[in-house]
Amino acid sequence: DWTPISFVEDTIEQMRAKLGNDRVVLGLSGGVDSTVTAVLLSEAIGDNLHCIFVNNGLLRKNEFEGVLEQYKGMGLNVKGVDASDRFLSALAGVSDPEQKRKIIGRVFIEVFDDEASAIKEVKWLAQGTIYPDVIESVSVKGPSATIKSHHNVGGLPDFMKLKVVEPMNTLFKDEVRRVGSALGIHPDLLGRHPFPGPGLAIRILGDITAEKVRILQEVDALFINGLREHNLYDSVWQAGAILLPVQSVGVMGDERTYEQVVALRAVESTDGMTADWVHLPYNFLAEVSNKIINRVKGVNRVVYDISSKPPATIEWE
Ligand code: XMP
Repeated sequence: DWTPISFVEDTIEQMRAKLGNDRVVLGLSGGVDSTVTAVLLSEAIGDNLHCIFVNNGLLRKNEFEGVLEQYKGMGLNVKGVDASDRFLSALAGVSDPEQKRKIIGRVFIEVFDDEASAIKEVKWLAQGTIYPDVIESVSVKGPSATIKSHHNVGGLPDFMKLKVVEPMNTLFKDEVRRVGSALGIHPDLLGRHPFPGPGLAIRILGDITAEKVRILQEVDALFINGLREHNLYDSVWQAGAILLPVQSVGVMGDERTYEQVVALRAVESTDGMTADWVHLPYNFLAEVSNKIINRVKGVNRVVYDISSKPPATIEWE
């Protein structure tokens, strides 16, 4: 029977047999999947696992610094690389969602490749792919592909010449968390909501600028911290804010304003394949909305997304 402990034990054994004394490189994203993969592999092969944590400039507020510290505290062999400027310049003027994903995927591979080639004799690329990623990626290849391409799955340019190892590609999200718990990973890290690889880029509708990223980071932090303060964070599967390419009229004192609209999204789900919007308490939504409008310059209106998946997706792009 499948248990988290048996999965850990079996996988450690399999990974030792498969990887031997080889060096392995892994890209940490700050998310649950890559974190659990890293800890699992680190248990199996120790410092032969070389982790790279890239700041693409599209992470949540303070995420890069905070999570890098946590990783180091967990004893992972990790290098933090701040490539924000490189990503933002490559994205300048781009509005199309799939273009954004492609650019982010390409720049990530370039940055990652630079770092990976600095590791002597590295033979393997480890990825935190989980089962739902595998299914959606396969669907993308179908003739009536409507599902978005997930850039972080299976993609590996030939020139990297690395073999791919994906120890968790049979697991669903809840199983990943249970495995992480069996590995002794802190519940706060394990309980983190999923966050897409392209990050805030696909939550800024239209083109991306450093200023829009900053606004969305502020809005998102107020929403997410609010969920934590009200003990709602753990009852939500995924939450985030979306910066809309829409301005609306508002009023502040005697002045008319013409500023951005943001949408808040919070969903319940088990694997991200289907999802329902969370019926967050009105008083919570009221408080967060007030905070956002009062504190984030440039935003004068907040709306709440009440769409289910399907037919709406979780992300807006
Ligand atoms: P959708 O929007 O398709 O999202 O309902 C389902 C889940 O997948 C995440 N997502 C992504 N993750 N790269 C990722 O790593 C992507 O391009 C991507 N697009 C969506 C989304 O956040 C949700 O958890």
